[in-house]
Amino acid sequence: MGELFRRFWLPVALAEEIPGPDCDPARVRVLSEDLILFRDTSGRPGLVDAYCPHRGAPMFFGRNEEAGLRCVYHGWKFDVSGACIDLPNAPEGETFKNKVTISAYPCVEKAGMIWAYMGPKDKQPPLPGFEWLDLPAGNTYVKKFRLECNYLQAMEGDYDASHASFLHSTLGDSNLNPAIQIGGIGNNFFDKMAHYVSVQETPVGLTYISTNQRADGKTSYSAGHWMMPIFCTAGIAGPNIYSSNMRIPIDDNALMFYRFRWSYDPIPERELQEYKWGGYVYPELMPGTFVTTDNKANDYNVDRVAQRNYSYTGIKTFPLQDIAMMEDQRGTVMDRTKEHLASSDELIIRVRRQLIRAARNLMEGKEPSAPHAGKAWAIHTARVIVPDTMPQADALAKLNPMITDPTSMKVNFIS
Ligand code: FES
Ligand SMILES: [Fe+2]
Repeated sequence: MGELFRRFWLPVALAEEIPGPDCDPARVRVLSEDLILFRDTSGRPGLVDAYCPHRGAPMFFGRNEEAGLRCVYHGWKFDVSGACIDLPNAPEGETFKNKVTISAYPCVEKAGMIWAYMGPKDKQPPLPGFEWLDLPAGNTYVKKFRLECNYLQAMEGDYDASHASFLHSTLGDSNLNPAIQIGGIGNNFFDKMAHYVSVQETPVGLTYISTNQRADGKTSYSAGHWMMPIFCTAGIAGPNIYSSNMRIPIDDNALMFYRFRWSYDPIPERELQEYKWGGYVYPELMPGTFVTTDNKANDYNVDRVAQRNYSYTGIKTFPLQDIAMMEDQRGTVMDRTKEHLASSDELIIRVRRQLIRAARNLMEGKEPSAPHAGKAWAIHTARVIVPDTMPQADALAKLNPMITDPTSMKVNFIS
């Protein structure tokens, strides 16, 4: 599965972790590999082995200067491509340096993240054709945080339509809470449980349509997507605001969760305020870390009084409600022989099958086609809210063209 992941461009850091030319290098661990990320004098990001090829000293302590990262043990220096550009401690250095490289992965900065391709050079695909990779900075928002579990059990919450009616719900009329309204979640959205009416394979993964009946006598149909191997469109963040969740394995027992929002227009200040300081849509982090303040060690500060009176879980932050369910599913790598899947878990089964199939194909030498699927990546969440009396086929005929239409979200909340 790791080999399969290495056929895709993946986010490996926030761009702000390497804020400017010659900034301090940052430690990155991704796909069980320890790496050092730096930005050279001309601003190019570089992602290299965490250890020097000379005698294995940690490159984290390196000097980032004059277009390269220099190991401080004996001064060997490497550029973003991994080439050794100075080997000052040996008489043969001038020629020997041409034979030495540090392993380095191609990386680029897009949408506030550093993306890397960690696979074989001759298999390198173009960047995925997401609609949002080149949007202006004000149209995107991203934060990341660390989870202590396998990426898959965390990702599966994104295409588990029935859980939202429980896990993310509030009691009584408490959905009038403004934070909950900004988050787009409240009992009014989930009067009856959502279920899937269609699940279809696409060139990049799966597209699914779920429906639920609302308290106001209307029915909503929502289309979402899972894209190989970890890109989830998740739900609708709000009118005209889309969401993308990416869970990048650190190793088998931990992941980095990139929680990304984007819009074709600048994201309104009110939304940004909530993301940054509201504490509902994005969890608070311990200063200087990517660890959430509410976490497994303190039982996510579950508030049992709130649980009785206000919120279904008593856990404050929307993503932490999910994370509390994910980080300990019989441990950090769940034992799937002990689960009992129901019809509401159809998508979970389908995604697992597709991932396993792609991994098996790769073992047999058949490369995945998704990384080269171009415009097939340019799909987003869509939703229509229609009268209960509208036949399903008519509602889906309205919904389907919206999946690829860049202007669709503006009309998404109108029946
Ligand atoms: S170990 Fe890095 S230069 Fe010697
Ligand atoms: Fe959730």
